[in-house]
Amino acid sequence: MAKNMNLNFLIFAMIGCIIFVSVSSTTHIVGDSLGWSMPNYIGYFEDWSKNKTFVVGDTLVFQYNPGMSTVVQVDKNDYGNCTSRNTIQTYFRGNSSVVLDKPGDFYFFCSVGKRCEAGQKLWVNVQGKPSSQ
Ligand SMILES: *[C@@H]1O[C@H](CO)[C@@H](O)[C@H](O)[C@H]1NC(C)=O
Ligand SMILES: *[C@@H]1O[C@H](CO)[C@@H](O)[C@H](O)[C@H]1NC(C)=O
Ligand SMILES: *[C@@H]1O[C@H](CO)[C@@H](O)[C@H](O)[C@H]1NC(C)=O
Repeated sequence: MAKNMNLNFLIFAMIGCIIFVSVSSTTHIVGDSLGWSMPNYIGYFEDWSKNKTFVVGDTLVFQYNPGMSTVVQVDKNDYGNCTSRNTIQTYFRGNSSVVLDKPGDFYFFCSVGKRCEAGQKLWVNVQGKPSSQ
């Protein structure tokens, strides 16, 4: 009897782990302690994202106060040119969370003044869910 219960518990625990792993997602605070503000060099956000892995379902949190920054999601050309001709989404209410809901490239910049040109821009490549091998 006691052995059976242990086995049941083990199976439940294993199922729990599998479910936990498959739904777990990461919240990334963009720029870490700097938050979403003007970096002191152009490549700052590029360096921030360089060694990180972004997976579908992860969340980016842009920390800023309303009126200080905006988060504009654009396409690749707009990102390269710091223009917002093909705006996908605009956030301006402060501390914006963006769920990375599909694989591929996501491009963001701040539309205040010349901040984008100064490096307040972020490109992340989002990977599909890792296959359970
Ligand atoms: C990224 O990882 C490489 C190799 O592990 C390391 O040399 C580099 O300093 C890291 N860069 C950042 C910005 O953390
Ligand atoms: C944004 O989040 C930071 C850190 O949690 C907090 O200090 C700040 O008050 C928040 N600002 C707004 C506008 O919600
Ligand atoms: C700027 O936009 C044009 C199209 O409008 C595009 O051909 C070009 O590649 C963009 N530049 C960059 C650096 O992305």
